[in-house]
Amino acid sequence: MKNKKIHIKTFGCQMNIYDSERMLESMKSENYEAVENEENADLILLNTCHIREKAAEKVYSYLGRYKELKNKNLNLKIGVTGCVAQAEGKEILKRQPLVDIVVGPQSYHNLPKILKNTKNGKKIVDTEFPIEDKFNILPTRLSVKRSVSSFLTVQEGCDKFCAFCVVPYTRGNEISRPVEDLLKETEELVSQGAKEIILLGQNVNAYESIYKKQAFRLSNLIKEISKNKNLKRIRFTTSHPNDMTDDLIDIFGKEKKLMPYLHLPVQSGSDKILNLMNRKHTANKYREIIKRLRDVRKDIAISGDFIVGFPGETDDDFHETLKLCDDIKYAHAFSFKYSSRPGTPASNKKEVDEKIKSKRLSLLQERIIENQKKFNESFLNTNVEVLIEKKGKRDDQLIGKSPHFQSVVLNGPIKLIGATVKVRILSHNINTFLGEIL
Ligand code: SAH
Ligand code: SF4
Ligand code: F3S
Repeated sequence: MKNKKIHIKTFGCQMNIYDSERMLESMKSENYEAVENEENADLILLNTCHIREKAAEKVYSYLGRYKELKNKNLNLKIGVTGCVAQAEGKEILKRQPLVDIVVGPQSYHNLPKILKNTKNGKKIVDTEFPIEDKFNILPTRLSVKRSVSSFLTVQEGCDKFCAFCVVPYTRGNEISRPVEDLLKETEELVSQGAKEIILLGQNVNAYESIYKKQAFRLSNLIKEISKNKNLKRIRFTTSHPNDMTDDLIDIFGKEKKLMPYLHLPVQSGSDKILNLMNRKHTANKYREIIKRLRDVRKDIAISGDFIVGFPGETDDDFHETLKLCDDIKYAHAFSFKYSSRPGTPASNKKEVDEKIKSKRLSLLQERIIENQKKFNESFLNTNVEVLIEKKGKRDDQLIGKSPHFQSVVLNGPIKLIGATVKVRILSHNINTFLGEIL
């Protein structure tokens, strides 16, 4: 039988990238093959993000473009998956009737069955939070060539309910996958070529399980996974300050394979705003965590997320954010204008003026870039261990990552992909280093 063709477009966070990979594998078992170009596809899936209004609206502009494709190919099926699917459900069909299926993040294992049921033009919406664990039903990792750096979802969902955020509603409660399954999946990924594993979770450091009758937290999991001899590097993301327990801080000083980089979103430097955001930590508690991390791992690179213009944020509050940004000396940070999301507790609060939000965002971004530049400059003319991940733009170019998660471009033979090499850092721009192999 001729293979059918699937095209998946992924938006949003790393969890969606991981999910897209899993969905692709489950459709491969149904004789689908991946195509780069949606014009050739029999099935297009948009794996979507609902975090900010702009992200969610993107979906509809993509869908609009598919009208023509649908007219050309009457068998083409179009699906919306991910967090917009979960948040908007059957509303999506009303707004864009060319969609055939809407599947929430907890139902991906049902995809093959759902598609079979769309024959005769039937439309299907599956946004249940089922009792069964989708990870058990999804097939084992297909034997394909893995990226040098591969994602592994260890935890999903969020119980924190920050006042601005849709994730607890789109991804459901915090659940942790069993250690046995994660060790097996690590084994599979590494035997297929992965050298680095990035452990994923919306609140990855809330990971909690039982292994060999012992309570297992993220630090235990990192220790256990690091025993895999062919695995060179481990990272994890995203963490919440309230779950940065001592064992997890300490392991940065103990486990060599755990890279000196932590993404720890703070959102604001003002205690008043943190409280309104329902973050349940203060700015000083955050400072204290970073101090303790630096005590055990002096060179650790800290990255963060900020929201400016949360309802109620005054100039003074914003200056506290700038102050925190300078105190922490972030190696890297993401910053966003607050975007009101339907159904979240903050959504009915009076909004900060759009112009003020924009002004604050550009001020904060200036500050972040200044700090990032300083951080990167401190690596000039030093030697760093680079894990080579892929080919660069030019034929003789390679791209890799430093332990501190900086991209490094260098010249070298393709056979070095997957190897860790010592590199002299020669120059840098905002996001990339130029280096030479020693
Ligand atoms: N689970 C992670 C990330 C959640 S989403 C965490 O707890 O940090 C990634 C980032 O998007 C958040 O850290 C926050 O900075 C931003 N974000 C979330 N909701 C937002 C909203 N309504 N408006 C603007 N930014 C938002
Ligand atoms: Fe959203 Fe807060 Fe949960 Fe992060 S911790 S996913 S920002 S609710
Ligand atoms: Fe977006 Fe959902 Fe991830 S809202 S950030 S895709 S968890």
